[in-house]
Amino acid sequence: MTRAAITGWGKCVPPTVLSNADLERMIDTSDEWITVRSGIKERRISHVEPSEMAAVASEHALAAAGRDIGEIDLIIVASCTSDSVIPATAAHVHRLLGAPVPTAAFDLNANCSGFVYSLINAAKMIESGMHSRVLVAATERLSALLDFTDRSTAVLFGDAAGAVVVEPTEEDHGLLSGFVQMDSSALGYLEVPNDGLSGMPARSLEPPHGGITMNGREVFRRAVVAMGDLSVRAVAEAGLGLEEVDLLIPHQANMRIIDATAKRLKLPSEKVYTNIHAYGNTSAATIPVALVEALEQGYISAGANVVFAAFGGGLTAGAAVLRWGERTEPLGRSEASLAPTDRSLMELLEANFRVYGYPEKLR
Ligand code: ACO
Repeated sequence: MTRAAITGWGKCVPPTVLSNADLERMIDTSDEWITVRSGIKERRISHVEPSEMAAVASEHALAAAGRDIGEIDLIIVASCTSDSVIPATAAHVHRLLGAPVPTAAFDLNANCSGFVYSLINAAKMIESGMHSRVLVAATERLSALLDFTDRSTAVLFGDAAGAVVVEPTEEDHGLLSGFVQMDSSALGYLEVPNDGLSGMPARSLEPPHGGITMNGREVFRRAVVAMGDLSVRAVAEAGLGLEEVDLLIPHQANMRIIDATAKRLKLPSEKVYTNIHAYGNTSAATIPVALVEALEQGYISAGANVVFAAFGGGLTAGAAVLRWGERTEPLGRSEASLAPTDRSLMELLEANFRVYGYPEKLR
């Protein structure tokens, strides 16, 4: 039986840090409030487009898989913060990686569930024989959509990219199960109510221009139920008992949501990987970035049963169970990195202030 396995993994986190202390100097908030309510301590602010972060993460994933871009026949880019409306971010990533003409590429926007949606799609295409090697890159520049006059959302999000190479295997590992869903009855609870592209604030838009709006309590309530239900279902579909789960890698949106999901799976905290303190919510990118760091820190050993669980705008949700293969080390390493920036944190955020208005303490 052909299954789809992750053979390469990579991440890209932009260098500029926005800490809770920085936010305290801008808006009426506190490190204590943000830490207690969400678990976030700092997040990254990108100076480049989402495709550039995706390309760097992808170069690392390709090197880890020992593959050249010419050996990939499909690129899926999970993102809700595109470089442009036309073409898709996947076209920019395709160009930056130097992919040849026959390589297909498309965007998949399932908000924060985008990586789980994309991984399952990639696996099914491989299992069906339609594609043989798929690069899944998740990339988000949510900072460009942040209204720093709205303290309830501005403290939660950040920028990053993660990527994996997915290939067929005949061995007893790879994707064992996966479920995705949409609950559109909650559509208005988390939205960017215009055509908010990541680069737009830096361009020509005049206010009023909507950033991310969210009913945090409703999203929280539904996220806990959806992530828990789908994870339990995916574990059962994989033919596993809850006690056979070795690691949960959840979407990193809120530490309390992660704790509730772990509780549904009866998992102790040492079987749950979190890095929300370092990056905040980077939407589709949270899970692949966490996967890379979990591997680097030895959380995943050969044959480990790993659960991915996510939820996001829509409201989408998804869960997948993957049994890891023998190799937990990259086959090769890439030197790829973002071009450096000489712009300061405040210079990077200036475009947001011009579009949404200056945060209270900077007025
Ligand atoms: N600093 C200080 N106080 C704040 C802040 C802030 N940054 N933001 C809100 N508050 C205040 C509110 O004004 C409110 O004050 P009041 O009681 O005087 O009115 C108080 O804190 C409580 O606000 P709540 O919204 O009830 O706080 P809650 O405990 O629900 O936590 C949070 C808010 C963190 C947003 C939580 O609801 C949450 O995490 N929800 C899920 C959000 C999420 O995960 N979103 C990502 C979705 S993924 C995607 O697709 C992008």
